[in-house]
Amino acid sequence: MIKIAVLGYGTVGSGVVEVIARNQARVLESAGEEIAVKYILDLREFPGDPFEDKVIHDFSTILNDAEISIVCETMGGVGPAYQFTKQALEAGKSVCTSNKELVAKHGTELLSIAADRHCNYLFEASVGGGIPIIRPISTSLTAEQIESVTGILNGTTNYILTKMETEHADYHDVLKLAQELGYAERNPEADVEGHDAGRKIAILTALVTGREVDAEKIYTEGITGICSADFVFASEKGMKIKLLARSRIREDGKISVLVAPFMIPLEHPLSSVDDVFNGVVLTGNMLGDTLFYGRGAGKLPTASAVAADVIDCARNQGRTIMRGWGPEKAEMADAAEEERRFFVRCAASAASQVAEAFWGKDNTEASEGIFLAEEFGFFTPVIREKDFREKCRELGECVSGAIRLL
Ligand code: HSE
Repeated sequence: MIKIAVLGYGTVGSGVVEVIARNQARVLESAGEEIAVKYILDLREFPGDPFEDKVIHDFSTILNDAEISIVCETMGGVGPAYQFTKQALEAGKSVCTSNKELVAKHGTELLSIAADRHCNYLFEASVGGGIPIIRPISTSLTAEQIESVTGILNGTTNYILTKMETEHADYHDVLKLAQELGYAERNPEADVEGHDAGRKIAILTALVTGREVDAEKIYTEGITGICSADFVFASEKGMKIKLLARSRIREDGKISVLVAPFMIPLEHPLSSVDDVFNGVVLTGNMLGDTLFYGRGAGKLPTASAVAADVIDCARNQGRTIMRGWGPEKAEMADAAEEERRFFVRCAASAASQVAEAFWGKDNTEASEGIFLAEEFGFFTPVIREKDFREKCRELGECVSGAIRLL
């Protein structure tokens, strides 16, 4: 029998305990041995909980117990979670986690300790919730040169954007609902400002390049600037608005990464990824596009991915199966030099001034502009990010909103 410890009995931690208990027979069959939760570490007591007798408050009990070979870190954050993970790995105990913040910030070091101690640091649940994405990149697509990764990687914001689009719901009401459903981060700013998606694309990009990607250097825009008028224009144009995390591995070896809302055509595979679902399109040089789709947040889907990692650790005791990436840093391209088209919205009275600023005087018909209510919306030609921002600065308050086009 394999004994494990769960650090943090919150949404995901309690989900891991539940998945292992409810799917006991399947877990046994997959792992080849029974897996039992011996300890649950949390600051709180859980009177009346079926697993209350497993709750402890001192991590050293876990660290010093030779029977514990696998630890699930579902605490979140980069404080105690980092210390506990490091100590567990140094003691040769494998660690499975959903903690993308920790993987993005200290993954390089933690993967290296795991390799030195012949154990594993696995983090399938850290990106895409329950969607298998880390394992396919590490084991199935190893002959591919991955050219780009494009994903809807945050369930909370996708849920909010979907409800704003389909139910004309109020942003704050939907955010509250997402929190109640257990989708949002403790501080939902990380979701709505795009930082959570930024950490996830950093992890995926590190995996496909084999190099460390600094999440803090990724250009990130969240969804707080999106309003109901944007959805009306998008729908008129046969497009949807999605928060995309996107990385492109350029021919010069640099990586171009950003997180931002995009207008995407209905024909794009990610346009039908709605609600809390996540989707990732990986483009390989031999395979072309592959879409991964599933529940990107929530207790049981995320816990299922952590439990699958536990099973992998159980099957591979004494053997490191995931190298992840090394200490060399990926070189980031300057996001301001990227070229693309934009959707621009302005007051109807400023339509010709704003359209001319991008298209020139005789060319504004090419902008596919439309008037709706008191506003005018159009598409710019391909333009460098930095030139676009400069023009918007010059136009000042004439521009009411702008969204990148995919
Ligand atoms: N807050 C995250 C999300 C949880 O909404 O996607 C899953 O990582």
